Amino acid sequence: MVFSLTMATPSVDFSCFSASNETLLSSSPFKTLKLPLFWPWQKVKMGPLTVSPMGFGTWAWGNQLLWGYQEAMDSELQRTFNLAVENGINLFDTADSYGTGRLNGQSEKLLGKFIREFQGQKQVKDKILIATKFAAYPWRLTPGQFVNACKSSLQRMEIEQIGIGQLHWSTANYAPLQELALWDGLVAMYDKGLVQAVGVSNYGPKQLVKIYDYLKARGVPLCSAQVQFSLLSMGEDQMEIKNICDSLGVRLISYSPLGLGMLTGKYSPSNLPRGPRGLLFRQIIPGLDPLLNSLKKIAQRRKKTMPQVAINWCICKGTIPIPGVRTVKQAEENLGALGWRLSSDELLQLEYAALESPRKMIQNIFQTR
Ligand SMILES: NC(=O)c1ccc[n+]([C@@H]2O[C@H](COP(=O)([O-])OP(=O)(O)OC[C@H]3O[C@@H](n4cnc5c(N)ncnc54)[C@H](OP(=O)(O)O)[C@@H]3O)[C@@H](O)[C@H]2O)c1
Repeated sequence: MVFSLTMATPSVDFSCFSASNETLLSSSPFKTLKLPLFWPWQKVKMGPLTVSPMGFGTWAWGNQLLWGYQEAMDSELQRTFNLAVENGINLFDTADSYGTGRLNGQSEKLLGKFIREFQGQKQVKDKILIATKFAAYPWRLTPGQFVNACKSSLQRMEIEQIGIGQLHWSTANYAPLQELALWDGLVAMYDKGLVQAVGVSNYGPKQLVKIYDYLKARGVPLCSAQVQFSLLSMGEDQMEIKNICDSLGVRLISYSPLGLGMLTGKYSPSNLPRGPRGLLFRQIIPGLDPLLNSLKKIAQRRKKTMPQVAINWCICKGTIPIPGVRTVKQAEENLGALGWRLSSDELLQLEYAALESPRKMIQNIFQTR
């Protein structure tokens, strides 16, 4: 529905659409129809895949320890998923390790269920791509065991093929032999057609080039490299990774683009989230004033919100951000990061403010050199 309506109303200026702008046309025969929050046909290439310029992350969907997940949240998560897909998002990031304790795998299970139960157009549903990550657990020692991990993810989601099968982290620093077995596992799952494309996560610049060459020699293109990348995580290594990705034709997927929520502006030293995130934020937020002020100023001038500006920065850097979303409201707001671009001056202002802020995100301990 949404697609045909927007195609028929090209004169509407969508560039000003954000979550805060209600998306109903008030004075037209289409009164009761909802417009999408951005141009849903805007897509980018990632290897053989065609994806929305932003995906959504689902780490929180099943994680009690860090994100306070409860099963009672599932209906909200399903509405969040539906809203995203109806508005053109076709990329969802998950992992076989997402979900704590007995809920291990919950994020994949929920995604599978939400795809099955999606009521919208079949052609929209068919374009949904799951990027999952297979953990480099110490007991996954052979290519066959890694392929079995992929088969288990497929079973949990009850889908036939994974969009991107990603190696969650490199074991090069502590178990180099295991690393080769995992790489061969990626090759095997690609050759068997279990995944449409192959990606890595938490690979530093050197290791990224190595795996790229290794896969290439076996006829497997490396499609994506997922790393922590945001205004809070744009150090030398991350920029080097970005440059390498550009030169190799690999897409950088930026995870934690909102700094786990710190860049939304809603947290402060006197308003911290519960649990381990609160402990981390307590260390970082007091040094974030220059960056948060710059985000706020640009957001106000643009009639956008701080999360929208933070996500748009990732897009303008040529990456595909995958902000984590837990509610319909967050998804609506984050969709407003699409359909417009920060100017080069604004990008510089934000980056300068980030450099001025003394504290940064702690780098993922699993990221290699
Ligand atoms: N490869 C890896 O090792 C790795 C590591 C980390 C993440 N990831 C992936 O990247 C995804 C995103 O990263 P992330 O979840 O760590 O962090 P993030 O995207 O930086 O932050 C997400 C959190 O910010 C808050 N939020 C999101 N949109 C908001 C909005 N519009 N207004 C206010 N608050 C908002 C929500 O938490 P609250 O509501 O609780 O504030 C949300 O869970 C993950 O879900 C996962 O798929 C991958």
